[in-house]
Amino acid sequence: MSSNYIKSEDSLPEIKRTVFDLLKRAAADNRSAMHFVTLATIKNDTPNLRTVVLRNFNENDQAAIIYTDERSSKVHELKENKNATILAYDKGHKIQLKLIGEAHVHHQNDLALSHWLNLKGGKEAYNTTKAPGSEVKSLERAHTFKKEFDEEHFAVIEFNIKVIAVLQLNGSEHIRVCIDLKNNKSSWLVP
Ligand SMILES: Cc1cc2nc3c(=O)[nH]c(=O)nc-3n(C[C@H](O)[C@H](O)[C@H](O)COP(=O)(O)O)c2cc1C
Repeated sequence: MSSNYIKSEDSLPEIKRTVFDLLKRAAADNRSAMHFVTLATIKNDTPNLRTVVLRNFNENDQAAIIYTDERSSKVHELKENKNATILAYDKGHKIQLKLIGEAHVHHQNDLALSHWLNLKGGKEAYNTTKAPGSEVKSLERAHTFKKEFDEEHFAVIEFNIKVIAVLQLNGSEHIRVCIDLKNNKSSWLVP
């Protein structure tokens, strides 16, 4: 698994295509190295990071989808400041993607409900009695759930990507590209 996704002879449009395909695969395949990504938000003035699952990448909307609990810190932080960044690294293929964009939280609306209805497992994660991050007296109390699992606290983060910063390590010839989706312009950068 050491072959690189991006070849030295690839054009900028070819690299964009490769990156889009990579993101689609990352969302669809839980064995993909980029299925788990790091989402960075701003908490007061400090960056706050956590691992999340990349649930979907929609090429037409240029948006990534993440599921969460609307009571979580990240949701509060995104409501204060929608600017966020997602970082992904595939060690096997030596490629890093930094997605810079704006995140919008969907909660108790049609989009959130359609994702909830399609969600197969893991519904308990959004059905704890207390909000994520609440202090409890014992581990047992941390694992108390609502009787019925419903979408009351389920939220969908729609991450609208403005820029994708690509870096692929290639021996002495690393490849660094900036894909500016907002202005539909890609450029080569010195790595
Ligand atoms: C492998 C892994 C996957 C995770 N996936 C998610 C996820 O998809 N959504 C989510 O809200 N939290 C997920 N978490 C938990 C977050 O990393 C984080 O601990 C939690 O959401 C609380 O974050 P916050 O307090 O910053 O909002 C995951 C954690 C790990 C280790």
